Amino acid sequence: MRIKYIVLACVMLAIIAFATIGIMHNKTSGVPEPSKESQQAAVVSSKGGEKTLNNNQNKKALVVYYSYTGNTRALAEQIRQSVDGDIFEIQPVTPYSTDYDTVVNQGKKEVESGYKPPLKKKVDNLSSYEVIFVGTPIWWYTIAPPVATFLSESELAGKTIIPFCTHGGYGAGHSLEDIKKLAPKSQVLDELVLSGSNKYEQKEILAWLSKVGFGE
Ligand SMILES: Cc1cc2nc3c(=O)[nH]c(=O)nc-3n(C[C@H](O)[C@H](O)[C@H](O)COP(=O)(O)O)c2cc1C
Repeated sequence: MRIKYIVLACVMLAIIAFATIGIMHNKTSGVPEPSKESQQAAVVSSKGGEKTLNNNQNKKALVVYYSYTGNTRALAEQIRQSVDGDIFEIQPVTPYSTDYDTVVNQGKKEVESGYKPPLKKKVDNLSSYEVIFVGTPIWWYTIAPPVATFLSESELAGKTIIPFCTHGGYGAGHSLEDIKKLAPKSQVLDELVLSGSNKYEQKEILAWLSKVGFGE
């Protein structure tokens, strides 16, 4: 009878020991639990092998953008994660000054005179993309001059352009009209207009994507 109790006690101890090791292992394995945000992102990620958003027309998309302080770049990257496309950053040959006020003044002169700064690189194989997302910060109520250069130097006839912009509180100004003027032979869809930030509401981006034909 006593031996039976001892065996039973040993079995109980062994069970407790295994359970404890199991819990410790989970805590120290270094595999973080996915946050709600990353679970959400996985649903729309095109690069992680997860479910991608449906590009209804199955057209090859490119996200092109210019960004001076990073806000439009952050938006471009979020858009790229949600569509099955490539990304290209527009860069002027001569970078703008690192002094913000200098650029605000220079930008005003460039916008007013319609100056189009030469660009460092062209998109390889632009002809292979049917849909081009074009992103710009708003400079003096319109697109930034490097984006004007991109639009006027690129062969965009017959392509679909989907504009997006970030601004400092004064909205999109006449950026959409100006994009249409610079790409008269393209179909220009609704512009996504967001206040500049380093992170944007994915919900808002998805609602717009759905409106322009990249919905599920
Ligand atoms: C030259 C210049 C002109 C600007 N003009 C405007 C404007 O007309 N309206 C506005 O709301 N914000 C304006 N801004 C603020 C930017 O549009 C805003 O900060 C934007 O998110 C910056 O994007 P980025 O970080 O991609 O450069 C201007 C900024 C600069 C540098």
